[in-house]
Amino acid sequence: MDERPFRSVLYIPGSKERALEKARGLAADAIIFDLEDAVAPDEKANARDLLARTLAEADYGRRAKLVRINALSTDWGTDDLDVIAAARPEAILLPKVDGPADIEALARRLDARTETAETRIWAMMETPKGVLNAAAIAAAPRLAGFVLGTNDLAKDLGCRPGPGRAALQMALQTCLMAARAEGIVAVDGVYNAFKDDAGLRAECEQGRDLGFDGKTLIHPAQIDIANAVFAPEAEEIALARRQIAAYREATAQGQGVAVVDGRIVENLHVATAERLLARAAAIETLGEGN
Ligand code: COA
Ligand code: MG
Repeated sequence: MDERPFRSVLYIPGSKERALEKARGLAADAIIFDLEDAVAPDEKANARDLLARTLAEADYGRRAKLVRINALSTDWGTDDLDVIAAARPEAILLPKVDGPADIEALARRLDARTETAETRIWAMMETPKGVLNAAAIAAAPRLAGFVLGTNDLAKDLGCRPGPGRAALQMALQTCLMAARAEGIVAVDGVYNAFKDDAGLRAECEQGRDLGFDGKTLIHPAQIDIANAVFAPEAEEIALARRQIAAYREATAQGQGVAVVDGRIVENLHVATAERLLARAAAIETLGEGN
């Protein structure tokens, strides 16, 4: 799994020069450069060229950079891939993925070019077929992460997610389960009301508690909240350190388990604590590099 943090994953419309420039100084952990839904049909060609130039010239630091192309079945998908491939993208985010065949088709095209030898594929999980095929998609070639497309999914389901998103829980958890089964990254869908901080925070907390690595965002004002919610808290870091120390001491004395704050600490808790510390360290490292 990609060890970089994915707390805040910001969509930037590939057509918006100002937003592309601004993003270089924003604290988002990852960026999705979008050629799909955020770009109107008559802007597609310009956005593609602007984005290819921007990726070739601009420095976005160590953060993960994904390019969302249009589906290969659309009028734009193949041209998107041709133009973006030259910029050696680290990852292509494929929209409307229905099954592993969609990923395999893109993987074959990436295989055919030397510039994209290392390019990973991420899948938008946003159609009913996609969710039902989540396990097979997660296991497809080059697949490195899932992005939940909750707006498209709600549209196709005909549901009203509302606060708490009860109608989407099955889909969210199915995708998360599939991602974890294959050890890939999983990022939650967007929160549309970008001026509603309390609502965003509540939805980030829900996504975090479900197990997601972070949240996709549409506006810079959402970054700080996602970064805070998906980062380990100071008390969690301190507790993880104490658990690891107590467990070491217990095993040194020939015991299989330790007790910290009245709770049992076993091997598996130590693994969780170590993962939490690794996540905190990765966040710190990214902060230094951007
Ligand atoms: N990434 C980077 N910068 C962004 C941004 C984004 N997604 N959205 C806005 N900004 C920048 C603006 O360029 C502006 O910069 P400036 O003040 O330095 O010139 C600043 O942030 C404030 O923007 P604001 O005026 O509050 O937003 P807006 O009303 O112009 O746009 C949206 C609101 C929602 C239309 C816009 O944020 C957007 O297009 N978001 C992305 C949508 C998207 O990608 N959808 C597809 C996936 S769901
Ligand atoms: Mg979508």
